[in-house]
Amino acid sequence: MQRVHDIDNLQQTLTRARLEQKRIALVPTMGNLHQGHLDLVKAARDEADLVVTSIFVNPLQFGPSEDFDRYPRTLDSDCLKLMEAGCDVVFAPSVDTLYPNGQSGLTTVHVPGVSEGLCGARRPGHFDGVATVVSLLFHIVGPDVACFGEKDYQQLAVIRKMVHDLHLPIVIKGVPIAREPDGLALSSRNQYLTPEQREKAPRLADTLKAIKERLENGRPTSETITWGLQQLTELGFRPDYLELRDAATLSPLSETTRSAIVLVAAHLGETRLLDNLYVRLS
Ligand code: PAJ
Repeated sequence: MQRVHDIDNLQQTLTRARLEQKRIALVPTMGNLHQGHLDLVKAARDEADLVVTSIFVNPLQFGPSEDFDRYPRTLDSDCLKLMEAGCDVVFAPSVDTLYPNGQSGLTTVHVPGVSEGLCGARRPGHFDGVATVVSLLFHIVGPDVACFGEKDYQQLAVIRKMVHDLHLPIVIKGVPIAREPDGLALSSRNQYLTPEQREKAPRLADTLKAIKERLENGRPTSETITWGLQQLTELGFRPDYLELRDAATLSPLSETTRSAIVLVAAHLGETRLLDNLYVRLS
């Protein structure tokens, strides 16, 4: 496995791969890798001959009071995991490499509609930061396919719309959420939880399951969401949102929506947890 920090070296490798007719997959990450990330690498392996994983803690997508400075940076252990998972190239640029002229005045990518509401409403500018760095990575790497987790469902929808609107010749593959045995969705931020909070955290996924069951048994949407919010609050979560949306478009439900998704973001202490679950409506 090759580990590269600068764009020229990366592109030499990629040019060679392309001459050999290799299909290239990209897995963008911010590092501190867990099984969820490694599932993306495995999905990428299934789709391509050469897998590139990028590791870059992107300052553009963090708000001023968010955890950019304390976000865990664990490049050496990440590389070991990636090697075992069958990754071919790790691209770990510095902030100066990706943003040589600084971050202000940078050309940015804004994806309207789907980036508004949900996390977009609570984290202003977040999805512009994500769309901008992912489009930079797409231009630098030029992958045939790129893999993203369903854990960040709105992010996946933003990337899909960006690729569609900009006619980028890249297949976007969504990968199901990897969970702990007790149901908690894996996240680099779970390590911020105290032991007590860690014990409580899986109740978020349990609540989504209970909501799904109620909805699939025909209970009305607004009553069920109100119940879910109350449950979460009683359990000690501080919900940012709990919403039911169309799974394909992330729009509010219409009469004809059959495939829906319930999405939640909730704070447990200092830590913000995200989760979602598909719901079939009849
Ligand atoms: P990061 O949080 O490191 O996540 C990288 C990828 O791993 C994302 O596609 C995310 O959805 C996926 N992922 C994280 N936890 C997962 C889980 N439990 N199951 C399945 N997939 C999971 O998301 C980002 O980084 C950044 O916003 C990025 C896209 C790299 C742009 O900076």
